[in-house]
Amino acid sequence: MEKMRLDKYLTQTAGLSRSEAKQYLKKGRVCVDGQIIKKPETKIDAGQAAVTVDGRLCHYEKYTYLMLHKPQGVVSATEDDRERTVLDLIGEPVRGLFPVGRLDKDTEGLLLLTNDGALAHDLLSPKKHVDKCYFAILDGPVGKAEQEAFACGLDIGDEKRTLPAKLVPLPQETAEPGQPQKAESIVDAKRPAQAESVADSEGFGVLITVQEGRFHQIKRMAKAVGREVLYLKRLSMGSLRLDAALRPGEYRPLTEEEIESLKRSRKETAKEE
Ligand code: URA
Repeated sequence: MEKMRLDKYLTQTAGLSRSEAKQYLKKGRVCVDGQIIKKPETKIDAGQAAVTVDGRLCHYEKYTYLMLHKPQGVVSATEDDRERTVLDLIGEPVRGLFPVGRLDKDTEGLLLLTNDGALAHDLLSPKKHVDKCYFAILDGPVGKAEQEAFACGLDIGDEKRTLPAKLVPLPQETAEPGQPQKAESIVDAKRPAQAESVADSEGFGVLITVQEGRFHQIKRMAKAVGREVLYLKRLSMGSLRLDAALRPGEYRPLTEEEIESLKRSRKETAKEE
């Protein structure tokens, strides 16, 4: 049983602020299991109680998890005075929703949005070693020396070197103009072309897997081995892979399986510590 104050429940299910919830309660607009309740501090069983506001039934889900295919040109913030944010792409308002980690304005790909702070914390914590895999197009080739440098952890100007990371060069033709989809097809044979924005750039496709989420991490790691990132897309985070059916700007709720799998992978890595 999950006991919760009624005013808090209303903020999570009816899109009301705490003070609006109190006003609604005071005016007798809220029923719990058929009875008008006026006291905001009343504790209810959030998973079981039938709560209505003006006769409309509230639907309680503890947390929301959305997979967004972040497009280029929007910032990974909850609000911004000048720029469009990833939350502006979400049709329905969800209280407390935030992006799990940041992708740069010019980066696209998988972005998880949730209001589950504990899961978000674990997915981002370097201590939990959750893999984040990126497809990048670099301005020049990389080989064994760069791979080894990534595997050792790089000095990118922070106090600490990065954790060991994986760099996998892809066959060069995968990053030819107009052919970026070939690189992705190596990651997932079923993945259709998605990186249209890279079509006219020349470069060298790589996969990079890191277990942290430092500011501009991939770009700074590439720079540390003398390369520039021309294009960047996140493909996966832990067990969660970008749904190939989502076009840039589209999103969908995670399935129960995806949520459970993400949570499990976090526990398994935690156990190993
Ligand atoms: N690393 C970067 O440099 N940019 C991103 O958006 C994500 C990881």
